[in-house]
Amino acid sequence: MILKVYRYHRGMVSPHYDTFELELRPGMTVLEALFQFQEKLDDSLAFHYSCRGAVCGTCAMLINKVPRLACRTQVESLLKGGLKVPIVPYPAIAETVPWNPEEEVLVEPLPHLPVIRDLIVDMDAFFQYYRFIEPVFTPSADNPEKERTMDPAAVKKLEVYTNCILCAACSGACPVEGKNPRYLGPAALAKLYRFHIDPREGRTSRLKTADIPTGWWACEFYGNCSLVCPKGVPPRIAIAKAVAQLKREEKEKLKKQ
Ligand code: SF4
Ligand code: FES
Repeated sequence: MILKVYRYHRGMVSPHYDTFELELRPGMTVLEALFQFQEKLDDSLAFHYSCRGAVCGTCAMLINKVPRLACRTQVESLLKGGLKVPIVPYPAIAETVPWNPEEEVLVEPLPHLPVIRDLIVDMDAFFQYYRFIEPVFTPSADNPEKERTMDPAAVKKLEVYTNCILCAACSGACPVEGKNPRYLGPAALAKLYRFHIDPREGRTSRLKTADIPTGWWACEFYGNCSLVCPKGVPPRIAIAKAVAQLKREEKEKLKKQ
């Protein structure tokens, strides 16, 4: 079993790939394979991780041309071209290196973000757009004596969006992000929608924050974001619902004129 890993650091003219014969253990994750690479081949290999349990979101990378969490992806499941995800192809994942998916696991940095070193990308732009949508709850003006209760149906609707761990896998899988670096992106938009449908939220016009050419309207509905999300968040559905609501509101406004 061969691990093929992208290598780059500042000052290099162009990136290259290192290959490494992996000692496969049952249940081994790609993250563990990278540790083995560090121990046995080159301890300067750089990558991010923290929780090792699909919680912190720091280990997202492009594994066999699909953005995934390294700590959650088992090497064995990738063997013989396994664990395919039917994402729409886009330029950033077009093959750049000879790679045999039958025998090799290919590990590269997440697309669409600048590479700092090896598998570490600069997440600044991702978090800049996340901050732009103001991901904080603003309580409605009424001041209940007890807690703000929610009915279970409302909780069910929004809880899927609260599962986001900000790993940016969706951004790395989004063809629009590749051609429009100013697009707010699926993670920020899904989070904004989560506040919009929260019945406790005081700001009634939250959808308006992204009612700009680089917000809701930039999405082309490829759906790659929802397919790769390791936590089951469906940004595509959130964006489609927001767009439909904004169009409805616009129609009603025109009728009244
Ligand atoms: S929506 Fe999913 S893929 Fe995107 S940042 Fe959140 S957890 Fe990661
Ligand atoms: S190490 Fe935390 S999500 Fe993978």
